[in-house]
Amino acid sequence: MTEGAFTELRLDGVGRRFAGKDALVDLDLTIRAGEFIALLGPSGCGKSTALNCLAGLLPLTAGSIWQQGPDGERRIDTLPPEKRGFGMVFQSYALFPHMSVRRNISFGLQMRRLARAEVARRTTEAIRLVQLEEHADKLPGQLSGGQQQRVAIARAVVLEPSLVLMDEPLSNLDAKLRLEMRSEIRRLHQSLGLTTVYVTHDQEEALSLADRLVVLRQGRVQQIGTSEELHTRPANWHVADFMGFRNIVEVDATHVDGTDVVVQGEGLRLRGTATAPTAVGDRVVAAVRPEDVLVGAGTDGADGPNATPATVEVVGYQGRELAVEVRTAAGRALHLRTEQRLAPGDAVTLTVDPERLLVYPLAAGEHVPAPLVAAVP
Ligand SMILES: Nc1ncnc2c1ncn2[C@@H]1O[C@H](COP(=O)(O)OP(=O)(O)OP(=O)(O)O)[C@@H](O)[C@H]1O
Ligand SMILES: [Mg+2]
Repeated sequence: MTEGAFTELRLDGVGRRFAGKDALVDLDLTIRAGEFIALLGPSGCGKSTALNCLAGLLPLTAGSIWQQGPDGERRIDTLPPEKRGFGMVFQSYALFPHMSVRRNISFGLQMRRLARAEVARRTTEAIRLVQLEEHADKLPGQLSGGQQQRVAIARAVVLEPSLVLMDEPLSNLDAKLRLEMRSEIRRLHQSLGLTTVYVTHDQEEALSLADRLVVLRQGRVQQIGTSEELHTRPANWHVADFMGFRNIVEVDATHVDGTDVVVQGEGLRLRGTATAPTAVGDRVVAAVRPEDVLVGAGTDGADGPNATPATVEVVGYQGRELAVEVRTAAGRALHLRTEQRLAPGDAVTLTVDPERLLVYPLAAGEHVPAPLVAAVP
């Protein structure tokens, strides 16, 4: 059995303060054995802090961590890192530069004083898993970034840890390698039956890798859910903003009929779907993904739902699709994606399915920051 094997790991009100400032507040999370969990959020939101608390590299200032195993539950946040049996992969690979790939990977096993044959067998197997057979005798300096990253991963998983913790392990790699390593990590997770907690600020990476995502903002959990849940139903407008709802507009609710609402502001009048109880007169946030803003008339009548005239301003090529920025007559910039060959200056009519236009409450005194686009002179 794997060292420190567990059926469940439970974080109970975990918090960490630095010099009187909260970096992580009241994190409740149960990780089931075999799960792939992503911690996701913008820079400074507390992802590394959470991971380091789990690893034992940072003492908690609040809460506790519990491990449910065959012999019942035991508290582990009081244990030093080496007693937890977790493996870490850091953003900087921190390989031993004077040791070959094989020795980098076998080092941890040797430190455990395993029999020589056992060390050799497990090292060879780990090298095969990360497909580094041809490079086993090279030094880290003779490897590409992606190969070094695979050594770092092999070095962690060769110890058969009960939990693998990864902190932005792909951030140093180019776009193509990132994609390759992404599938590699998922493949290893599956074939080795690992439990993985993975930190990233890249929502696409998190969505494609994880069984469940934990979205953090300013040290607090905003939402825990599957990729599908986060993609279609962000819990609040901050999560929506982070999850790719690039059109975020502060407006007023002018009609409310259950979850069916009409909002108005910035020269727009739109029908949408309320995500929380809403009353006429409420200041709210309308959120739409670029791919849900359609060009041209829709199916319900000549103009389609939420028909809004606009002018194309910026067109970016993104493979089959174009990423397009348009501006309404009232001067509001909006983002959309389309396969239509639009060009700057084109006049278009935008439509949005009211089901795809989500309306979120705005906290008292809270405001949506102005969009990051230059105003037209
Ligand atoms: N050792 C420390 N001393 C003081 N403050 C710290 C320390 N480590 C982290 N912080 C603060 O705690 C907050 C959370 O930091 P953390 O490193 O967890 O963020 P993160 O989500 O990992 O960000 P990034 O994506 O940039 O790595 C930040 O405001 C950070 O400045
Ligand atoms: Mg970090």
